[in-house]
Amino acid sequence: MSLQGKRALITGSSRGIGRGIVLKLAEMGAKVAINYRQNEAAANDTLMKVRERGADGLIVQADVSRPDDARRMFNQVKAAFDTLDIFVSNALGEIFTYYRPPLDITPEQWEKAVDSQAKAFLVGAQEAARLMGKGGRIIAITYRPGGATAGWQPYFAQGSAKAALESLVRYFAVALAGHGITVNAISPGIIEDSILNSFPQDAQDGIRAWHRAGWTPMRRLGTPADIGNAVALLSLEEAGWITGQVIAVDGGASLMNPDFPLEIQRG
Ligand SMILES: NC(=O)c1ccc[n+]([C@@H]2O[C@H](COP(=O)([O-])OP(=O)(O)OC[C@H]3O[C@@H](n4cnc5c(N)ncnc54)[C@H](OP(=O)(O)O)[C@@H]3O)[C@@H](O)[C@H]2O)c1
Repeated sequence: MSLQGKRALITGSSRGIGRGIVLKLAEMGAKVAINYRQNEAAANDTLMKVRERGADGLIVQADVSRPDDARRMFNQVKAAFDTLDIFVSNALGEIFTYYRPPLDITPEQWEKAVDSQAKAFLVGAQEAARLMGKGGRIIAITYRPGGATAGWQPYFAQGSAKAALESLVRYFAVALAGHGITVNAISPGIIEDSILNSFPQDAQDGIRAWHRAGWTPMRRLGTPADIGNAVALLSLEEAGWITGQVIAVDGGASLMNPDFPLEIQRG
């Protein structure tokens, strides 16, 4: 399996899941554009790891929640690559500035989540499509449980923004089908070496214990490389008939039933 000669832009790819995606695509021969918002050192480190894999790339700073900044980033990518084959909308946004339950949040805080997820995808997909030919791949990184449930109350803004993002994916899939471009979303389970590591240690420990106990049937958390592998599969020519889907990449976590204790579910 090869992505030799392909050109990819991954937003929020200096760290975490985005870095896992960049490294996998680079290993498979793609040239990669690494986007970050503020932590330049992490972006440099990721580019170094890309080069260690014998691939090449560039770094493009931009705050993708700002349309003008995002368009400037695409112009830089066009100047460097001329065309684009793979666009991954992955950037997390400044989640802790809008990590509030519905009764406490301000409209401005809520809007920041929407800007970083739905609006960033809207602008990104429009700009990417202009640079893509037949065979192009647009992939959003979502978190389906956040958009489809409501129990994790402080996730309210990001969850509703992810629901909007998933809807945008379906509309763009239809809009771009005639161009031979597929548009899909990947919904990771909880991933190591990511935003998870910014949670208080006892919360991290509780989450790991929960999933290892069986709430993720594969009994581990995911890794950025797991998500990189899924993006690579969707980027292959052979994935050209898959479009408009939200694909869970979660070791089976989305299969568990919250109505019953684990012991009952296992039989
Ligand atoms: N972690 C999980 O368990 C999990 C599960 C399901 C889905 N997801 C999704 O996966 C994606 C990545 O999450 P993560 O956990 O890997 O995050 P992370 O480790 O915190 O990394 C966030 C990345 O996004 C960049 N970023 C943040 N705001 C940005 C902006 N406005 N413009 C451009 N870049 C920006 C950061 O760059 P700087 O450091 O320079 O700011 C960094 O490269 C998110 O969409 C998240 O919702 C995560």
